[in-house]
Amino acid sequence: MNDLEAIVASAQQSFDQATTPNDLENAKARFLGKSGQITELMKGMAQLSVDEKKSRGAAINQAKQAIEAALTARRQALAEAELQAQLQAEALDVTLPGRQRGAGGLHPVTLTMERIEQLFGSMGFEVARGPEIESDWFNFTALNTPEDHPARSMHDTFYVEGGSLLRTHTSPMQIRHAVQHVKRHQNLLDAGQRIPEVRVIAPGRTYRVDSDATHSPMFHQCEGLWVGENISFKDLKVVFTEFCRKFFESDDLVLRFRPSFFPFTEPSAEIDIQFQSGPLAGKWLEVAGSGQTHPNVIRNMGLDPEQYIGFAFGMGLDRFTMLRYGVNDLRLFFDGDVRFLSQFR
Ligand code: PHE
Repeated sequence: MNDLEAIVASAQQSFDQATTPNDLENAKARFLGKSGQITELMKGMAQLSVDEKKSRGAAINQAKQAIEAALTARRQALAEAELQAQLQAEALDVTLPGRQRGAGGLHPVTLTMERIEQLFGSMGFEVARGPEIESDWFNFTALNTPEDHPARSMHDTFYVEGGSLLRTHTSPMQIRHAVQHVKRHQNLLDAGQRIPEVRVIAPGRTYRVDSDATHSPMFHQCEGLWVGENISFKDLKVVFTEFCRKFFESDDLVLRFRPSFFPFTEPSAEIDIQFQSGPLAGKWLEVAGSGQTHPNVIRNMGLDPEQYIGFAFGMGLDRFTMLRYGVNDLRLFFDGDVRFLSQFR
C-alpha cells in the first residue's frame, strides 16, 4: 500500500467511526482541511520537477476524490440514520384506541347549591353572591355581634392582612344584599312608601379555624333572608319545611325548631330534621340556624324595625349534601379523589 492508499484507507476508517455529523466534519478537516493531510501533500509538490508534478498531482487528486466520495457516502448514511431514528421515535400506531378526555362532572356540593337555588327560586327568592374576604363590619358588627363575642377570637376566625377576615358565615350577605336592595328603592322610602320585600338566598364558601371528620376549615353555607311588612316565624317554618321536603324528596320529613341563640336573630332556633324512613330514620339531624331578624340588624340594613320584620336562616351545604347522598366523611368532598367524585356524575 503506498502513502496515498494509506491516507485514503485511514480517511475511510475515520469517516466510518464518525457517528454524528459533527464528528464527520472534524474527520473531514483532518484530511481535506487547510492543514489536512491531502492539503499538506499538495503543498509539498512545489519542490518536484514538472514531470513529477504531473504524475504525483494526478495521484493526489485521485486520492482526494476517493476521500470526498467516502465523505459524501458517510454524510448520506448519517442523515439517513438520523431520519430513521426520528421516524422510530415519532412512530404512531394509528390502530391504537385514541386517548380520550375523561368526562367531568359537577362536584356534589355544587349540585346541592344548584338544587337549592332552583328550589328557593321557585319560591321567589333571588340569588346573591358576595366576597369571601370580608370586613369586620359585615361579618360581625352589623350583625349585632358584640366586640367580645367568642366567634371573633383568633381561635375561630381567620384574619387576613389589613384587618379583614375570611367570612365565618354567609350572614354578612344579609346586610350586603339588603343595603343594596334598600338603595335601589331609596326613592320609595324618601316618598314615605314601602319598598318591595327582600327575599334572597346567598350560597357560598365560608371559613373557620376548625378541622376534623365533620369540620373543614373551608365549608359551604347558604344564607336565606326574607324581610317585609309582616314576615313571621310561621313563614320561616313553612318555607324551610317545604324546602327540606322537596330537597330530600321526602313528603313526611319532620322538622324541629329548637330554641337557640344568635346575636342577629331574636328569637333564634336551631333547625333539626328527621327522616321517617331510610337508613337515618328517627334520628334528629341539625341542618341550619335560624331566627327572626334582630331589630338592630334591620336598622343596619337601612330599614325601620317598627315597619319591617322578617327571618333569616343559614344552612350547612356540606351537611345537606352528606345527608342527601349518604356520605359519612366530610373530608371526601375536599380530597379530589376521582373515584369518589365520579359517583355523582
Ligand atoms: N350564621 C349562623 C351560623 O353560621 C347561622 C344563622 C344564619 C343563624 C341566619 C340565624 C340566622 O351558625
